[in-house]
Amino acid sequence: MNEIDIKKIYNLKIKEYLKHNKQYYEKSRPIITDKEYDKLKNEIINLENENLNLKNKNSPSHNVGFKPSKSFDKYKHKVPMLSLSNAFSKEDLINFEKKIFNYLNANLKFNYSVEPKIDGISASLTYKNKKLIYGVSRGDGKVGEIITENLKTINDIPIEIKDKNFPNEIEIRGEVFIKKKDFLKIKDNFANPRNAASGSLRQKNPLVTKKIPLNFIAYTFGYINKNSNKYQSDFLNELEKWGFKINKDNIILNNINEIIEFHKKFEDKRFDLDYDVDGLVYKVNDLKLQDRLGFTSNAPRWAIAHKFSADNAFTQVMNIEIQVGRTGALTPVAKVKPVNIGGVIVSNATLHNEEEIKRKDIRVGDFVKIERAGDVIPHVIEVNKKKREKNSKPYKFPENCPSCGSKTLKEYNKSTKKYDAVRRCTNDSFGCDRIAIEKIKHFISKEALNIDGLGKKVVEKFWKLNLIKKPQDIFNLDYSKIKKLDGWGILSVSNLKTSIEASKTISLQKFIYSLGIRYIGIENAKLLSDNVKTISNFVEIAKNKQFYKFNNIDGIGETQINSLKNFFTNELNLNILIKLKNILSIESNNLNKNGILKNKNFMFTGKLEGISRAEAKSLIEKNSGNTLSSVSKNLDYLVIGMKPTKKKLEQAKKLGIKVISQEILIKLLNKTY
Ligand code: IVH
Repeated sequence: MNEIDIKKIYNLKIKEYLKHNKQYYEKSRPIITDKEYDKLKNEIINLENENLNLKNKNSPSHNVGFKPSKSFDKYKHKVPMLSLSNAFSKEDLINFEKKIFNYLNANLKFNYSVEPKIDGISASLTYKNKKLIYGVSRGDGKVGEIITENLKTINDIPIEIKDKNFPNEIEIRGEVFIKKKDFLKIKDNFANPRNAASGSLRQKNPLVTKKIPLNFIAYTFGYINKNSNKYQSDFLNELEKWGFKINKDNIILNNINEIIEFHKKFEDKRFDLDYDVDGLVYKVNDLKLQDRLGFTSNAPRWAIAHKFSADNAFTQVMNIEIQVGRTGALTPVAKVKPVNIGGVIVSNATLHNEEEIKRKDIRVGDFVKIERAGDVIPHVIEVNKKKREKNSKPYKFPENCPSCGSKTLKEYNKSTKKYDAVRRCTNDSFGCDRIAIEKIKHFISKEALNIDGLGKKVVEKFWKLNLIKKPQDIFNLDYSKIKKLDGWGILSVSNLKTSIEASKTISLQKFIYSLGIRYIGIENAKLLSDNVKTISNFVEIAKNKQFYKFNNIDGIGETQINSLKNFFTNELNLNILIKLKNILSIESNNLNKNGILKNKNFMFTGKLEGISRAEAKSLIEKNSGNTLSSVSKNLDYLVIGMKPTKKKLEQAKKLGIKVISQEILIKLLNKTY
């Protein structure tokens, strides 16, 4: 056969292959058997191997995994599915425990439920009257996708529960994963077992899901109408009684030393397990303490993931590029020769900062060892200096911002009496192009305005086309121009318009966060929005530079106030705030507005016992009350702890404000400790 004939046959086979994909994945109606389909795929791949000139972007050799479906219905989780904070060392664990003691304001004794962290995909199963009614993916943590039928194909997931003690309504969470030995059979289609599990779960056709043998291990609950267990470890045992699989290696440990020892042993043992484990999860075992500790904006305070050491590989640094971050930090990034580390192709490695480059003497052209652990960005661990070229020169870090040319600085930290390791562009504003782009990406991100269809790449593209230069431009886009761009059509433009319109209504907390001011993350934005209440108050303070008004907010310190000052002293930034205020509809916080402490204002003085201020404040807010930072006639209750400030007590008495003890406050809340 000549070359032209071979090419013809090849193209026909590709056409045939695409036709069957469509039948299978989109129409869910295959017209050939799996065996015939696999044969066709192999024929194409064999032709490619024998004739190196044959290439097609639709070839099965390019097709990593099956294309997931976009068409699942969305489901708002009753209780958000958050992630876990990571620990890599004993120090991190000590810190984790310290934070718990601080929050509870007591050195309570508790033990930990220790569970292997399976590297799979989390799923949520809602049972009502003992029947599985919803199976949902994690999604962005707030909204997931309904994949009930796919989850039902997993043998480990009971569809109906027999046990008489099963709650009427419960949401059980766990990990969907694929065993190592099963992955071997399909490894050509997926980068790693985790991707295989994820791809399989997101198939439109449950029959496809069924083909890939998935497993499920249960480890926690989301919503539950009645929990009779006092401990996480009891809950795990109960899960098993109900018919769920739990991890056989779960164990209760008493303290960090025991934990470290177990981690060491398990780190070796993990290679003998038949599934991928990327660390251990430690959970405060007492469920009542878990409830008291609650969550920060993205992770529980009562649990942490202790990662195992990472995979690594050797490669060469081709270039060093400087990225400018949202708040002006200059981060050097090594562009390396692409290398496979633990199933993932790595071509960038962070070099952290100027100090790190100096300390390790990393140069362009060097051969380096790169490490990658879980979702953490790959980084260089060491340079192989023996392989270094003779004429190589140390890397010279730029002294001016590569984006706007402004001076860069390493800040001096008064409390540590040291210069910061990070160099920053001094023009932290929308006046520096790279900073502006990063701030806009932050503005549209999930936790901020959450504009679907306007991802990071689109922001970069629209910036180049002069469509978006400032956040307010998003609300005045030239859609006639966008319609004509590659990859955009009437439908995607109309979807974009709708999600931009929807994003205009936003809580004050999210809005303050969305501005991307240094040191003002979600938590601090909440503190500020609780204090100012309305966007007008916030704008007035920014306009008139009255940041001293934030002095009394518990949790907002000099660092945050200075950062706000710097940000709004820049007229460009202030102008953007004012423009956005006029375009958006910014609501006050959506706290529970009808709780038992509705319209009641509290203030603390003195040290509380067995509970921290942060926890007491959050309890008051959960019940619709407010906390104030100074005594005024608006105050309803002054809560006194040990050694209260005399002046505050006197002021309160003068104004006829009720002075109550911590015990009375707890009684008001119907809580016991
Ligand atoms: S508890 C609030 N327990 O790790 C978070 N998670 O980074 C509660 N995971 O999304 C999660 N094994 O997919 C928990 N025994 C375990 C786990 C586990 C694996 C995964 C899960 C979660 C991720 C958190």
